[in-house]
Amino acid sequence: MKDKTFQDKVAIITGSSRGIGKAIAVELVRNGAFVVLNGRNQKRLTQAENEINALGGKVLAVCCDVSIPTQAKNLVNKTIETYGKLDILINNAGVSMYGDFSDLKPEVFKTIFETNVFGVVNPTIPALSHIRKSHGSIVFISSLAGTRGLPGHSAYCSSKMALRAITESIRVEEIKSKIHVGLIFVGFTENDPEKKTIAADGSLIAIKNRPNFIKAQTLSSVAKAILKNIRKRKFRTTLTGVGKLNAVMQAIMPGVVEKILIFSMKRMKK
Ligand SMILES: NC(=O)c1ccc[n+]([C@@H]2O[C@H](COP(=O)([O-])OP(=O)(O)OC[C@H]3O[C@@H](n4cnc5c(N)ncnc54)[C@H](OP(=O)(O)O)[C@@H]3O)[C@@H](O)[C@H]2O)c1
Repeated sequence: MKDKTFQDKVAIITGSSRGIGKAIAVELVRNGAFVVLNGRNQKRLTQAENEINALGGKVLAVCCDVSIPTQAKNLVNKTIETYGKLDILINNAGVSMYGDFSDLKPEVFKTIFETNVFGVVNPTIPALSHIRKSHGSIVFISSLAGTRGLPGHSAYCSSKMALRAITESIRVEEIKSKIHVGLIFVGFTENDPEKKTIAADGSLIAIKNRPNFIKAQTLSSVAKAILKNIRKRKFRTTLTGVGKLNAVMQAIMPGVVEKILIFSMKRMKK
């Protein structure tokens, strides 16, 4: 059944040419929204645009890098030129990394922060005045890795933790403008087969196998949970059973969480 919340709403989803972003776009289009797709690779973006138009959607695709302020501003401007308003901004574009801190080239931190932090700041600042007018939503896609530092993921975890600070500040600053600010802690999710991660030396590598005792959530169930966060105008949404358990354990037994992480790190390095 269609969710009327999204009928005729205009939504930008950064990083929506594949993966979670594309799944959110599909859900929004199915529920009657006008979607603005984004990604840096034109070919991948056009492919996503064609797939979504084939569902009966009408999308605008803006090929740009949100880590560059002028390009992110242009993404917002093109949306306003085309649709005359903006109701929802979903800051989804993100890149991941893998490597022990001691092995990392410092540039890895820079690359990760450019997309995961500046790539969120850059579209959000120009979008805010439009979201105020529509009393709309700004959603930030974080990760369970944004709730606790994980071995091998220091740059990624710290970039996602920054989103919590940004959202907490905006929520209080914007209290009078009645906008919704959502922060989603996404758990293990199915990956697009083409997805790559950044290695310690800065090169792009295939995603390392995840522990097989944890089941990945489907892209469409993650997308549905994000739409639910917007519909209910909730602040935080934590996904997966592991994520919910971690939130409780991290608060009351952080030492046990650390022991579990040491155990699973040893298993994965074997
Ligand atoms: N998958 C998971 O298990 C998982 C778990 C927790 C959190 N998350 C978070 O969920 C979000 C989506 O993850 P995903 O797994 O769907 O990733 P993905 O499959 O790698 O897709 C990332 C998307 O972002 C785009 N992108 C990357 N950098 C960009 C930039 N600077 N400017 C514009 N577009 C950019 C990519 O296209 P181009 O490369 O063509 O630009 C692609 O469309 C990320 O924020 C990620 O951290 C994912």
